[in-house]
Amino acid sequence: MKIKVLGSSAGGGFPQWNCNCRNCDGVRRGTLEATPRTQSSIIVSGNGEEWLLVNASPDILAQIAAHPELQPARRQRDSGIAAVLVIDAQIDHTTGLLMLRERDTPLPLYATDVVWRELTDSFPLTSILSHYCALERHTIPLYGGSFVIPELRGVSIEALALSSKAPPYSSHRNCGKVGDNIGLVFTELASGKRAFYAPGLGEIEPHVLAAMQQADLILVDGTCWSNDEMIRLGLSKKSAADMGHLAQTGAGGMIEVLDSLADRKDARKVLIHINNTNPILDEDSPERRLLIEHGIEVAYDGMAFEL
Ligand code: MLT
Ligand code: MN
Ligand code: ZN
Repeated sequence: MKIKVLGSSAGGGFPQWNCNCRNCDGVRRGTLEATPRTQSSIIVSGNGEEWLLVNASPDILAQIAAHPELQPARRQRDSGIAAVLVIDAQIDHTTGLLMLRERDTPLPLYATDVVWRELTDSFPLTSILSHYCALERHTIPLYGGSFVIPELRGVSIEALALSSKAPPYSSHRNCGKVGDNIGLVFTELASGKRAFYAPGLGEIEPHVLAAMQQADLILVDGTCWSNDEMIRLGLSKKSAADMGHLAQTGAGGMIEVLDSLADRKDARKVLIHINNTNPILDEDSPERRLLIEHGIEVAYDGMAFEL
């Protein structure tokens, strides 16, 4: 199983178009030891030919251009993206669907029932795209154990309901529904190797911890270093928790959670969906050094894994 990070940043990207925080300004000017990052997306493949796009970010066209495996050119019109799965209905995970509208057949899209409802009612990509390639609807089962996507050969998927947040535009932003956000366990059938992916993870519930304990690759929410990061910078009134993200520091924070997996020394622990305000983007920062001491990596665009 191959996994590649297309976009390692949170919504907004790094640098964010209108942001002059220390990180965004520094990376733009070249005065910060940091690499620009596009918005949240990975690709997964069992055979290295057909890829499942997990989250369709607003940067999808640039991401496709940066990854030749997504442009295999076997026919006049072609793509390595065989199907798409979205883990929630957030803008940074779904807007890219509009960019894939030139397909000549309906785009297979996997989402939970709740996410399908958002994409039908509140953010009606379903009806908009029906005038272009259209979406082929597949519902992700939440309690049915694992499922397979025919395009993703040799890999099974399990979806875990997560405590995070429905999108800001959702009619139930403040009273979450099961299926608003999911985490994914990808298992390569031949080897049994597992990857756990959850870029929006607000709370480590027992079933989430169990999935992390069993994974060989853990790709988890790296949005904010501290819970009040954006408030302190005067950039938002919302904490990381208000946005459905577990900060890295503080009691029960992501560093502590990943440290608790001490008996999985062989597993790779990688933060993904990094917000542009997060000090770990500065490779010379003490925060980045602390992560290294804890054996935690920071995802970058193009980071590749083979399991
Ligand atoms: C989030 O992860 O909280 C959202 O992506 C934020 C956004 O898209 O504006
Ligand atoms: Mn996001
Ligand atoms: Zn910024």
